[in-house]
Amino acid sequence: LLIEDGLIAGMGPEEESPDGIDRVLDAKGGWILPAFVDCHTHLVFAEWRNAEFVDRIRGLSYQEIAQRGGGILNSAEKLRRLTEDELFESSLQRLLQSAATGTAAFEIKSGYGLDTESELKILRVVRRLKQVSGLPIRATFLGAHAYPAEFRTDHAAYLRILTDEMIPEIAAQGLADYCDAFCENGFFSTEEVDQLFTAATAHGLRPRLHTNQFTHSGGIDLAIAHGALSVDHLEVCDDREIEALLKAPGTAPVLLPYAAMFMGLHHPPARKMIDAGLGIVLASDFNPGTSPNPSLSWTWTLACTQMKLLPEEALNALTINPAFNLDFQDRVGSLAPGKEAHLLLIKPISD
Ligand code: NIG
Ligand code: FE
Repeated sequence: LLIEDGLIAGMGPEEESPDGIDRVLDAKGGWILPAFVDCHTHLVFAEWRNAEFVDRIRGLSYQEIAQRGGGILNSAEKLRRLTEDELFESSLQRLLQSAATGTAAFEIKSGYGLDTESELKILRVVRRLKQVSGLPIRATFLGAHAYPAEFRTDHAAYLRILTDEMIPEIAAQGLADYCDAFCENGFFSTEEVDQLFTAATAHGLRPRLHTNQFTHSGGIDLAIAHGALSVDHLEVCDDREIEALLKAPGTAPVLLPYAAMFMGLHHPPARKMIDAGLGIVLASDFNPGTSPNPSLSWTWTLACTQMKLLPEEALNALTINPAFNLDFQDRVGSLAPGKEAHLLLIKPISD
């Protein structure tokens, strides 16, 4: 495998390698794989939510924790207090640590700000992460992650801020590629997400949707109707919903096994999806409360042991599939001439 100026320049038998190579690295029988692509992360956050871990062990549900002001609202309260520079510094460390686990390209969501100023702050941090790291990074606006405490009883007013204030400003400043929401009981209804996606699409932000984590929220059909690029979670997904996804090849199922494991949920029916003919994507859902691990090696292991994916199927779902989903297929996702040389060199594997 020949690398020139950080790009893969060619591949072939050693005898055919050109003369004058500067540096030779012997893989010693190990395997070279393309680095991972993580198409679902919340890695810009203020603090870990450790208390929630114990709350869950004691039997509180995600919704109960949220109703007490924990969960996403707790993250928002902490993030609002940080300056942009503080948030950037800690997020950069987290991005570099994530990259050190073998991930070369990322999607990063906002959604822990929940007011215009703080959501913009997060998205500017994502822009700086992209500039400073040089890595392929996409930004997603997730202002519809939870209703902030100040709008608990006036959803319409927060929706207006999302559609009439945040989306136009974010689009004008070119701060996001996509618009996401959390479609679930106690969070955003299908009618509310419908309004949000209509505004997002009008401003050039392609939809993606957190849905079917706990219930059949109707989010899958809605996301498909809006031409969303992905539906994420799907711990709860029936045959009819799989059928609907089969007819919508542009809307990828993104499965998050580390989050499902960490929350003690049933895993999505990944085997059934693949056997039905769906192309799936796997991602980390890296976040401070429900998936505190950026390592896609762990996601790979869980996909195989818990969802019964073959190692090769899971590897595709962690590399080439998310590369296409994020429109980064020309830069990452496989070993091919012209792509960036982000590589994993792993130990030899015996049978
Ligand atoms: O993808 N499900 C909703 N959103 C995130 C979790 C966010 C949080 O709890 O901080 C998720 O799991
Ligand atoms: Fe998420």
